[in-house]
Amino acid sequence: MKGLRINGRRLQEQIAALGRIGALPGGGVCRLAFSPADKEARDRIEDRMRHLGLEVHIDRIGNIAGVRRGEQPGPAVLAGSHIDTVGTAGLLDGSYGVLAALEAVETLNEAGARTRKPLAVMAFVNEEGARFMPDMMGSLIFRGDLSVEDARRITGIDGTTIGENIDRTGFAGPELPGALPVHCYVELHIEQGPVLESEGRTIGVVEGVQGILWLAYTLRGATAHAGTTPLEMRRDAAYVAAAVVHHARRLALEIEGQRATVGAITLAPNLVNVVAEEARVTVDLRNPDSGRLRMAAEKLHDLVLETARAERVEVERQIRVNVPPVSFDPSIVETVKAAAAGLGYGSRRMLSGAGHDAQIMASVCPAGMIFVPSRGGLSHSTREHTAPENLEAGANVLLHTLLSLSR
Ligand code: GLV
Ligand code: MN
Ligand code: MN
Repeated sequence: MKGLRINGRRLQEQIAALGRIGALPGGGVCRLAFSPADKEARDRIEDRMRHLGLEVHIDRIGNIAGVRRGEQPGPAVLAGSHIDTVGTAGLLDGSYGVLAALEAVETLNEAGARTRKPLAVMAFVNEEGARFMPDMMGSLIFRGDLSVEDARRITGIDGTTIGENIDRTGFAGPELPGALPVHCYVELHIEQGPVLESEGRTIGVVEGVQGILWLAYTLRGATAHAGTTPLEMRRDAAYVAAAVVHHARRLALEIEGQRATVGAITLAPNLVNVVAEEARVTVDLRNPDSGRLRMAAEKLHDLVLETARAERVEVERQIRVNVPPVSFDPSIVETVKAAAAGLGYGSRRMLSGAGHDAQIMASVCPAGMIFVPSRGGLSHSTREHTAPENLEAGANVLLHTLLSLSR
């Protein structure tokens, strides 16, 4: 099966077709988790799985797995990613990994090729966490870190709960999350950063993922008149929110390997001439080193408390996501590397800056990832793009990685 190659044109067509679901007017997509668009996309994936002869399993949170029988029964070699998106997404983040895995299955079907172990394709729910925190929710539930009952009670940015959305759209299936026996997990994904493109390499052999910490600050002050209230009499929540942004950036510059992003701020009452009585601020902290990541969070908190104390603003901090850095299984890393070399693609070993279900699955079974270049390093942007030949190359590496692992 050395000469087997996926059909690049068919993969492009599938990417384009899925991208029409939740399409944004100027390009890109919005398929926030558990939304009607997310459900429509899931239905399409489920239909495609059935069309390819896969046995479909949908669990109680909505993770969809399609299993292709092997010559022998047993745990499956699992490939997948997610099809939910952030609000300003391109067509590739997540979807590429799921569609390329399905393309690999179709290629094997056409060739009449059997594998010894079963193969399975997985679309995890709510990887993004943009609407409902935490991110990587489907894999966290699969791993048993979060119960379906607790997840159903989580309220999103629009004030609705996951449970309401699941029940309204018929999102869930009957199966127990994590029931599917897995031998290993491989996720193909766009890099979402600039490294591969800048070095002119086709394949990233991913060795691990940096740690992620999401904080949600609620800052409580008091409303007052913008024109009449002397500064020393104010309890300005917006001012403390600004301190969060400022110190997050400073710490990112100061601490080695640190990233820090304030992506969402909501003020109340959010009026031009009223001192804000409340601010809600999210902080996304990342670092490949868990000690430094923890230190960044602690230092930030101390600095926020200092500003808040002087302003007489109350501070509440919730940790919404805390995923430590992971290293992928060396044998999967080597298998990916060998598959890329066998196909003649230039590759390099690298860490992932973005979060992925693979980092959760890494403690369920041996796991690994394959990256392809992102134009301009852009993702979580409607301008996200990867050249078709690179998408095809990544899918071929996935195909041959799966063939090796399912022998
Ligand atoms: C997932 O897309 C992340 O936030 O890294
Ligand atoms: Mn993704
Ligand atoms: Mn993403």
